[in-house]
Amino acid sequence: MHRYLVGGAVRDRLLKIDVYDRDWVVVGATPEELVQQGYVAVGKEFPVFLHPKTKEEHALARTERKVGAGYTGFECYFAPDVTLEEDLLRRDLTINAMAQDPDGTLIDPYRGQQDLNDRVLRHVSDAFIEDPLRVLRVARFAAKLNHLGFTIADETLALMRTIAQSGELAHLTPERVWQEWQKSLSTSDPQVFIEVLRECGALKVVLPELDQLFGVPQPEKWHPEIDTGVHTILVAKQAALLSDSLPVRFAAQVHDLGKGITPQSEWPSHKMHCHTGLKLIKALCERVRVPNEYRDLALMVCEQHSNIHRAAELRSETKLKILNKLDVWRKPERLNDILLCCMADSLGRTGYENYEYSQKGIFETAYQASLSVNVQDIIQDGFKGAAIREEMEKRRVEAIEKTK
Ligand code: CTP
Repeated sequence: MHRYLVGGAVRDRLLKIDVYDRDWVVVGATPEELVQQGYVAVGKEFPVFLHPKTKEEHALARTERKVGAGYTGFECYFAPDVTLEEDLLRRDLTINAMAQDPDGTLIDPYRGQQDLNDRVLRHVSDAFIEDPLRVLRVARFAAKLNHLGFTIADETLALMRTIAQSGELAHLTPERVWQEWQKSLSTSDPQVFIEVLRECGALKVVLPELDQLFGVPQPEKWHPEIDTGVHTILVAKQAALLSDSLPVRFAAQVHDLGKGITPQSEWPSHKMHCHTGLKLIKALCERVRVPNEYRDLALMVCEQHSNIHRAAELRSETKLKILNKLDVWRKPERLNDILLCCMADSLGRTGYENYEYSQKGIFETAYQASLSVNVQDIIQDGFKGAAIREEMEKRRVEAIEKTK
């Protein structure tokens, strides 16, 4: 029996990227032999085991045959006679289909290292088409490796288009869609995930709310890029530059969904989008099972971003009203997150990349001023019951007013 390091660990080590988890493939063994050696069986669909000491995943070499719809519709064959090359052949991309012997020797039958050097994401074989999840995976790898100059091979993009047209993407579970989307949010170029899905025709199937933003115009005076989809890509990019927070990056991507359903008769104006977007965000989050933390931030950004952009014109009462709505008193970290999304929205316009977003400072100052109002002082001054709250609001408005 032989074991080899495979997949992401080999790829990332060659790229000199940090390796978080290491997967192994075992050739020439049976499940019984592994159990005898102290490995613990964990795989439900595939024969996967945890190493007795390192707990790293070890899978028996296997081949797969498509028997049903979706990414789970596979019959897998494993036996001691399945070779390493056969196992690597069923994998998605050549850069993911390399193995490394424990002595360090690279086993690379499908020219993964060449593609790594050429910065190309290329499928290994036509079996690529059997797993629709791979469309999302390639989009995610394109986002992860974009900063290194990786692009997708034309033939691979063509296969991704074929999968998108086949209807197979509809079989992906919401959890898998979210898993890949969320992983893309932690890359340095989350916008590339959306761009690639759009390019191969998958966006309209998996995230139609984002897809329908393309082709929708905005007023050129504020949005030189005009197209709302193009704007969303730029905002996604800015959000990733401004914040490492995944909920912030997510909220930035979906903040304008309402513009996708503005009646054409109102174009390029979108007066209601802060309101109409809420329903779309809720439905999207429910469908794809987006965690509440992400959803709640996205809803607030959607509802308040236009108000926050107008910070310089707002009365102190209105600023306080917005701070109350955002519930920053109980969740102070929220303010910064929301302001960063708004800033990404503003900088995510052609020609505005270096814009000084003074609205952020205005709201931060208003918030700090409000914090200076002390409830104990109000009680000491003799206010009771509901009057305490009223007086608190009044003093907060006065404090904000003084900052002008
Ligand atoms: N794999 C595949 N097709 C899939 C899922 C996985 O071919 N639908 C193969 C690839 O060879 C991949 C390996 O299984 O490299 C491990 O998959 P996974 O851990 O999901 O991804 P990594 O490539 O390790 O990348 P990362 O850890 O960055 O997600």
